[in-house]
Parts: sequence; C-alpha cells; structure tokens
Amino acid sequence: MERYIIKGGKPLVGEVVIGGAKNAALGILAAAVMNDGRCTIDNMPNVRDINVLLHAIEEIGATVDRKGPNEVVISGCGIDPEFLTVDNEYIRKIRAGYYLIGALLGRHKRAKVVLPGGCEIGARPIDQHIKGFRALGAKVVIEQGMIIAEAEELKGSHIYLDVVSVGATINIMIAASMARGNTIIENAAKEPHIVDVANFLNSMGANIKGAGTDVIRIRGVETFHDTEYSIIPDQIEAGTFMMAAAATHGDVIVRNIIPKHMEAISAKLNEIGAEVQESDDAIRVIASHRLKHTQIKTLPYPGFPTDMQPQMAVTLGLSTGTSMIVESIFENRFRYVEELRKMGSNFKILDGNTAIITGVEKYVGADIDAPDLRAGAALVIAGLAADGYTTINQIHFIQRGYERFEEKLRGLGGMIRKVETDEEVNRFIFSSSKKNAD
Ligand code: EPZ
Repeated sequence: MERYIIKGGKPLVGEVVIGGAKNAALGILAAAVMNDGRCTIDNMPNVRDINVLLHAIEEIGATVDRKGPNEVVISGCGIDPEFLTVDNEYIRKIRAGYYLIGALLGRHKRAKVVLPGGCEIGARPIDQHIKGFRALGAKVVIEQGMIIAEAEELKGSHIYLDVVSVGATINIMIAASMARGNTIIENAAKEPHIVDVANFLNSMGANIKGAGTDVIRIRGVETFHDTEYSIIPDQIEAGTFMMAAAATHGDVIVRNIIPKHMEAISAKLNEIGAEVQESDDAIRVIASHRLKHTQIKTLPYPGFPTDMQPQMAVTLGLSTGTSMIVESIFENRFRYVEELRKMGSNFKILDGNTAIITGVEKYVGADIDAPDLRAGAALVIAGLAADGYTTINQIHFIQRGYERFEEKLRGLGGMIRKVETDEEVNRFIFSSSKKNAD
C-alpha cells in the first residue's frame, strides 16, 4: 500500500506553483456535459477526484479528449438521455459526482446518479440540492442508493437555501442555467469556486449574475456554445503550502494564486507572527521563530475556510500558549487529532466541534493514518515539522486533492517520498541519515 515516509525538522524554503482549483474544476467539468459543442478547459488539477469524474462523464457517452495532464476538451453531444445512469465503484467514492444531477437535469431533464461518497467529515446530506431541483419543477426520488430526478420542463424559481451550501449553490445554479425563465438563489455560498463555475457557464452562453454574493440571479438559456476556459488557482492547495512554510519555520513563495482568495488565511498567519508578503499573483510566508496562539472559527467564505482547519491546527499545535478552533461547518472534522497525539500534540476536543490546543515545543515522528483529504495533508505538515521519521498511511485520501504533492514538497527541500515497501522505507532512512552525516 502506498504511503509517505518523511524525515522532519528541515524548514521548507523556495518557490511552489499552485495548480487549478479542484472544487471549481468538479463543477465546471460536470457543467460542460450540458454543451453539445466543445468546452476546452485548462489549468485542470490532475488529481484522483477529477479523473474519477472524467471517467464517469465518458461512461454516459460524452466525449472526453485529454490534451494533457491539465487540459481536456469535453462535448456532451454523445450523451443518450435514455441511458443516463451515473454509477460505478469509483464515482461512489467521491462527492462531486452529484454535480452531474444538476447538469443532466438541466440539459436532458432527467438524471440518475448514485448517492455521493466523499470524505467522512460529517453526515453531508443533500437535502438543499433536492429542495432546489424540486423548486425548479423536477420530481426527485431516492431509490436503492440512486438519486433519480426528472422534469417535463424546468421553470425558474425563487429558492432560499436553509444552509449556506457550496454544493447546493453550484448544483442548483447549473440546473437553473437551462431552466425556462428566471431563478434567484438566496443565502447562496460565496466561495471563489462558485464564481468560477458561474464564469465558466457564462463563457458558454449562460446568463448568471451575482455569483460571489449571497443572491445569485440566473436567466435560463436554451443552448450553449463552444468555450475555452482556464480554472482559477486552488485556494486550499495554496493555503496548505503557506501553512507548511509556517509550521516548518521556513520561507516559501507560493506562486500562481489570487491573494484576495487567501485573505482569511494570510490574516491568521500574520496574527500568529508569521511574515506574509503579497504581490500580484504570489504570497511569501516567512516564519523564522516560534509562532503564537490564536482563536479560529471556521466559516463560509470569506471566513476562515473549513478545508484549512486541520492544517492550521497542526501549526497552532507547535505555537506558544493555548489556541482554540471551533469547527462550525462539519460535525466530524477533528478525526486527525488522535493521529497527531501519537506525535506528541496536546489537543482537547470539547463537544465534538471545539479544539483546545496547548502548544508543544515539538512533534516527534510516528506511524500514522490519514483519515481524510485535508487532515492527511495536515499530518504531512506535522511530519515535515517533527523530529525524526513519520510514515503516513492511507495517502489515497491526499491524492484525491493534491497534484504531485510530495514532488512539490521535495522542491521546497522537504524530505518526503512515496513508498510501497518496508525495504523502500529503510532505504529512505539510510540515505536521509547519510545526507545528514555528509
Ligand atoms: C464542498 O463540500 C467542498 N467539496 C468541501 O471540500 C468543503 O469543505 C465544503 O464545500 C465547504 O466549503 C467540494 O466542493 C467537492 P457544503 P460540500 O454543501 O458542497 C450542510 C475538500 O476538502 N449541508 O458547503 O459538500 C453540510 O452538512 C472538501 O476539498 C446540508 O445540510 O459542502 C455542511 O454542514 C471537503 N444540506 C454544510 O452544509 C445540503 O444539502 C456545508 O456543506 C448540503 C450541505
């Protein structure tokens, strides 16, 4: 089984280039099947969730022409509405297959998609998605683990989300883009990836206004035209490398980003004593001394992102004083704490959603398991900051959302390798201890 072996204690130094946003790409690739013409999409992250979705898109008859690891041309013209079932062992493991419901319902007025999987960070219901589809006039039932949505026609509606939901906002926006008349989505999520999906849809000929605010207005259209689109940089990949620089007391320039998207993360790094220098499309993080404690509550954008909570917690676990993190979005997003305790951290979890973090001088390497995507990335940061060696198992979670993760970390001087056998682990330990001796 693939795992990471890490030798910690070395500050990360240098430059890293950030890839396309996974959570924008998933909505964009699904929406592309609504277009019988050609959608050329680049800056697409080459990660497992994306490749699983592209496979599912091909399975329903769309053409997927991979121009390279980060570019694809999609056309929905080959989709046969009679055979619209999205279900296979891979799509069951990811969450974003459900965007195909919005896309197929919007374009073909019917969709049959297996219930979503994804990281076990909470119950993750889809009641708001279903509420939106029904408001547009669809009949939606869940039968034998499949979501089946059908409509004679889709008609614009005024939809008020009971919960600020990224997925529901994107899914309803996609379906409504081909509904007859006007749709308003109130209490919409405002993440950068929602704006990116709206911009992509508009580049195909949709008529969407207000994405990025909590009221999105959509005037439905009948057809889409060819488009060429480049996906925005990944806010969470960028934040992960910024946090890795801070936790390892390094000096890292994170390139190809949109600093505005990073504001909540940059502000917290400043607050705990890291130096954060912004330029047009890059941010430099320098942390030459031990950082300080702070308090955080995860919130929908532009608040502190829940997808950065584990990475921030690992960094605060090494800070002075006592910090507190309240996880307000998901009910089970501290599963990494028991793994981090094996490295010497001092966390107390109250009521399942609050972490009281007493900073320790150092982590000590251990053999640990990644419990989900972002927690896995956070545990890699802990291993890079720790004294000694850390092995991280279940790295398939990390590969869902980070492209060439260990390669990019090695480019910053991180001593990390992806291995499969104990023999490879021993070889890494031998060579890295020799390096130290040299
Ligand atoms: C998206 O998940 C992201 N995934 C998550 O990133 C991210 O953590 C989350 O948004 C919040 O930013 C993708 O984009 C593929 P939500 P999503 O709907 O859409 C509740 C990662 O690491 N809710 O915004 O599933 C839900 O339970 C992943 O890349 C309902 O109650 O998140 C949660 O408490 C992890 N009913 C809250 O809303 C619904 O119908 C926010 O969930 C939908 C959601």
